[in-house]
Amino acid sequence: MLSRSLSLGLLAFSLMSACNFHKDKTSEDTTGTTPTAEQINFAEVQAKVLGPYCQNCHSQGAGNLGGINLEGYAQVKSLIAIIERVTLVEKSMPRGSPLKGYPAELLTQWIAKGAPETSTP
Ligand code: HEC
Repeated sequence: MLSRSLSLGLLAFSLMSACNFHKDKTSEDTTGTTPTAEQINFAEVQAKVLGPYCQNCHSQGAGNLGGINLEGYAQVKSLIAIIERVTLVEKSMPRGSPLKGYPAELLTQWIAKGAPETSTP
C-alpha cells in the first residue's frame, strides 16, 4: 500500500516535470528567439502564427470573421499586404493583443522574404 502510493506520487511528479519542460520550451518559442532560414516558410507561419493567433476567428469553422479566411497558402499570400499592415504596422490584429516575440519576428521575416511557401536556405 505504501509502495503503491509512493509510485503514484513518483508518476505524478514525473508527469508534472514533463509538463513544465513542455511549458518552458513553448514560452521560449514566444520570447525573442530568432527564426532560422529553415523556419521561414508557410508551414512554420501556419504552426506558430496563423494557427494559434488568427484562425480562431479567420477560419471556416470560426465563420471567417471580417470575411477573411487565413487557412491556406493561396489566401494568405493574396492578402499579404493587408496582413502586414494589420499585424505589423497598425497592430490591430490579433485583436487586443499584438504579436510579439518569435511569432512577430517570424511573420516579419517571412513577409520580408516575399512570403515563400517553402524555405530557401
Ligand atoms: C478575436 C478574433 C480575431 C482574431 C484573433 C484575429 N482577427 Fe483579424 N479580424 C477580426 C474581425 C472581427 C475583423 C473584421 C473587423 C475589423 O476589421 O476589425 C478582422 C479583420 C481582419 C483583416 C481585414 C482588415 C481590413 O482592414 O480589412 C485582416 C487582414 C485580419 N483580420 C488579419 C488577421 C490576422 C493576420 C490575425 C492573426 C495574426 C487576426 N486577424 C486575428 C477578428 C480577429
